[in-house]
Parts: sequence; structure tokens; C-alpha cells
Amino acid sequence: MSDIKTLGEFIVDKQHDFPHASGELSSLLGSIKLAAKIVNREINKAGLVDITGAIGSENVQGEQQQKLDVYANEKFKAALQARDQVCGVASEEEDEAVSFDSEHSRNAKYVVLMDPLDGSSNIDVNVSVGTIFSIYRRISPVGTLATEEDFLQPGHRQIAAGYIIYGSSTMLVYTTGNGVHGFTYDPSLGVFCLSHENMTIPDDGRIYSINEGNYIRFPNGVKRYIKYCQENVPEDNRPYTSRYIGSLVSDFHRNLLKGGIYLYPSTASHPKGKLRLLYECNPMAFLIEQAGGKASDGCQRILDIEPSELHQRVPFFVGSTSMVNKVEEFLETYPDND
Ligand code: AHG
Ligand code: MN
Ligand code: MN
Repeated sequence: MSDIKTLGEFIVDKQHDFPHASGELSSLLGSIKLAAKIVNREINKAGLVDITGAIGSENVQGEQQQKLDVYANEKFKAALQARDQVCGVASEEEDEAVSFDSEHSRNAKYVVLMDPLDGSSNIDVNVSVGTIFSIYRRISPVGTLATEEDFLQPGHRQIAAGYIIYGSSTMLVYTTGNGVHGFTYDPSLGVFCLSHENMTIPDDGRIYSINEGNYIRFPNGVKRYIKYCQENVPEDNRPYTSRYIGSLVSDFHRNLLKGGIYLYPSTASHPKGKLRLLYECNPMAFLIEQAGGKASDGCQRILDIEPSELHQRVPFFVGSTSMVNKVEEFLETYPDND
């Protein structure tokens, strides 16, 4: 029993690394932890109670909202509002950023951007889904309502980021810029226990994850890279293996542990890619860099992109550094007009 370390204990220990830490960020992570437990409980009941399927509405991006998208959004928003450390949230499921309007919230230092339920179309078929979060210090003055500029910050300014994977076991993985740490949920104790301290991604891997159904619409460089992955070059461990769950959190988590690359390039139907910069790509990019990997839009570092819109999309290549470098090389060598 004595060698179990809970997420709460770990956060308090780590706080000592930041001499001026006031405990607010710890409390904020506590809110995320609580909402994760509530969402986890609900997800585990999928199939037993009426929570699967679409709710009949669309989000601002024209995507069908699932019942659990809306449920997770409400639970995370409520948990973040309750403890007064957050002055506003932006979410995949909200058209506009939400500024919390209470005296305590106006005095809060942080904003949170989130994808409350990632991979939600997988929920009806009992496949892993996730939650992604990204935390920034606000830019607007404390004491006022959060403004748009608080949410439109480049990813390199993130204070913390992480995800929860609701899988065969539920895990919370996060970084505050001092490595990546993973905690597995023990449902009998109701706590997240440290299981993966200082996670690192192998520099090279042999898993590639992409929706190959879109092949015909991919940029030339990506088509060539896929062919490269499939070539028979045993001394280079090729052909690689293809794994695609269709839930970014799950694909990312597997590749983080085993080494690999996840690709969501631009396609003819999604010329800017599909994944959203602020609450999908930036948090994953912060995590992967902290784990020794790389995240790129094909030619530049994801964390250096200056955002212009809340729901902005971006092509996304993330994973083992050597593999992301190779894709960049292919995109440069085989441009679309050759
Ligand atoms: P969300 O459920 O939050 O809208 O995200 C779905 C994303 C991501 O999780 C996944 O990797 C990708 O969409 C899958 O897209 P395709 O179905 O186009 O492959
Ligand atoms: Mn998503
Ligand atoms: Mn989502």
C-alpha cells in the first residue's frame, strides 16, 4: 500500500519544484481529475443506460453531437467553474469561448481549452475514447472577464496539458513542462495511481496511424511516405505496421508507449486538415515534445503556430522524432505540383 502514489500526492510533491507555486494549478488539475472520474463512470454504463448515439444537434463545426459529447462538456465545464481557478473555457462543443462571470472567476489566472470527448463516434461500439485539455495563463488583467486573446495563444505558452483515455483501463496523462506522467485509475479505490512516471517515446518506431481511406485525397508527400512505410526493407524494419483506432487520444497513447507516428494531413475535403489546433493538436504537441518526440504541421512546429480562430484546423503529424522528420522530408521532396 505504501508504494502507491496517487495523482493528488504526486501533484503536491511536484509543486515543490516550483518555489512560487500557489497551489492554484494543483487545484485546477484536481477539478479535471474529478470530472474525469464522473465521465468515466458514465462511459462505463454505455449500453446499459440511454447515453449512446447522437443527440440530434450539431456543433459549430457542423458535426453531429453525441449525447456523451454534451454530457462530458457539461461535467468538465462545471468542475472547472466550481473551484474558481479558471476564468474561462473553450471547447469543441461550444461555439464561442465561455467566460465565467463570478467575482472569484474574474480573479482566476487560468483558461482551459478542451476536447471533452475525443473519438466520440467510437462510443457506440465500445472502443476507447478520451478527453484532451490544455491550460494557459490568461493575458487579460485579473479581475476582468476572460477575452478572446486569452484563448488564442500559441501552444508554446501552455502551462499544462494532458489527456484522459477511457480504455481497457482509464488513465490520465499530463505534463506541466517537467516530463510526462501517467496515472491509472483504480475504480475500487476511486483514485488515479502513478503507473507511468517520466514517459518517453522511442526516437524511431514502426507503427503508422492514418485513415488510409482518404488516400486518394492526400498530398503527394504523404502518399509517398505511406508507400515508404509499406516497402519491404527488412534491415530497416519495414514494412511498418498500420494501426488506426480513429480516436486521436487512443492512437496517440499507443504510439507514445510503443513508438510510431499519427498523421492527419490536409485532404481534398479538409484542405486545412481535420484536427483542431487549440484543443487537439497543441496539447498533444506539448506532451509529445516533453516525451522526446515531435509534432509538426508538415513544415513547422505545431507549438509555434499563431492561432487566429478558436476552432482552427491544422494538418497534424505527431510521434517519434525520426518518423516525423521523414514525413517532413517527403512533403518537401514531393510537393503537390510535381
Ligand atoms: P472528435 O470525436 O473529438 O470530433 O475527434 C475525432 C477525431 C480524432 O479523434 C480522430 O483521430 C479523427 O477525428 C478521426 O477522423 P476520421 O474518422 O476522419 O479518420
Ligand atoms: Mn477530437
Ligand atoms: Mn470531441
